[in-house]
Amino acid sequence: MGERLVTDVLNKPDVALETTLRPSLFSEFTGQTKVKERLEIAVTAAKQRGEPLDHILLSGPPGLGKTTLAHIITKAMGVNLKATSGPTVEKAGDLAGLLTNLEEGDTLFIDEIHRLQRNIEEYLYPAMEDFKLDIVIDQGPNARSVRLNLPRFTLIGATTRSGLLTAPLLTRFPIRERVDYYCAEDLRHIVIRSARLLNVEIDDDGAREISRRSRGTPRIVNNLLRRVRDYAQVRADGRITGNVAAQALAMLEIDANGLDEMDKRILETITVKFSGGPVGLGSLAVAVGEEPDTIEEVYEPYLIMEGYINRTPQGRTATELCHKKLGITKNGDQQQSFL
Ligand SMILES: Nc1ncnc2c1ncn2[C@@H]1O[C@H](COP(=O)(O)OP(=O)(O)O)[C@@H](O)[C@H]1O
Ligand SMILES: [Mg+2]
Repeated sequence: MGERLVTDVLNKPDVALETTLRPSLFSEFTGQTKVKERLEIAVTAAKQRGEPLDHILLSGPPGLGKTTLAHIITKAMGVNLKATSGPTVEKAGDLAGLLTNLEEGDTLFIDEIHRLQRNIEEYLYPAMEDFKLDIVIDQGPNARSVRLNLPRFTLIGATTRSGLLTAPLLTRFPIRERVDYYCAEDLRHIVIRSARLLNVEIDDDGAREISRRSRGTPRIVNNLLRRVRDYAQVRADGRITGNVAAQALAMLEIDANGLDEMDKRILETITVKFSGGPVGLGSLAVAVGEEPDTIEEVYEPYLIMEGYINRTPQGRTATELCHKKLGITKNGDQQQSFL
């Protein structure tokens, strides 16, 4: 269980905390420089023309700032945001209710948009394109279709699994951006900002210790910071130094590189079961018991970025670093493990 901490517990959103720590302006949003620049230009241009913003799809692994960006964009446009999520919209009527309550220019934010039911998704097509909604009222012989005019709104969709989006939905988003894992420097910046907002003293080593164990993810940074703050308060003088952070994270059994249980299972499977690879995505997915596109979109990008695995035309292979991390030599002998 201890090893499950990182994704299962630490990457869970905490509504109150996230509201406190969530940057509300582009200028406060650290990293993702190119994504931010393109979005800011789209916002400025739409405002100059006095038009609503084009629909935007934000994709990328959990905890990297998709919801945050949707709020920042909405605020910069000076409009309101209504939020829902794919699984929550159960009937076409739910969608009609949301859409007809929007005002001109407002944002409709649909989180986990890949989980929207297909029949409901089809109502979105004319809504996104022509701002019209055809709804069927009554049943049986009295059934008839009514066309509603909608205000010109902006749909912002967020997804961890853009590969699951249907082509018709995907192509109706003129703006598509993918957020990626954060570099150590950006994470350090985020942890220092969050510590300031939470009123806790942290030094450079403390910030570095927390950020390097956060799997490139701001949400994990913030959650670890909170755990370390508790430890610093109870076991030290409240200040987060490198030592205090290291002790706290060791006590929490957080992996020194921020890897979680599924990350390790993937690395072990490629290295041990498939002798370092290459192994195809399908076989890897079956072996670790996870969906292929979750591996491809949620886990793999981080493992590739950190240099543990390579993606080759023949399949995934384990790198030297991966063997080292697992304490296994290339010919399969067991060495001392870092895990
Ligand atoms: N670029 C960033 N700068 C500072 N904090 C961030 C940034 N991105 C995310 N966060 C923090 O991480 C938390 C999770 O981000 P969120 O937007 O909810 O992620 P997602 O919707 O992609 O799962 C936010 O509450 C915010 O405090
Ligand atoms: Mg979110």
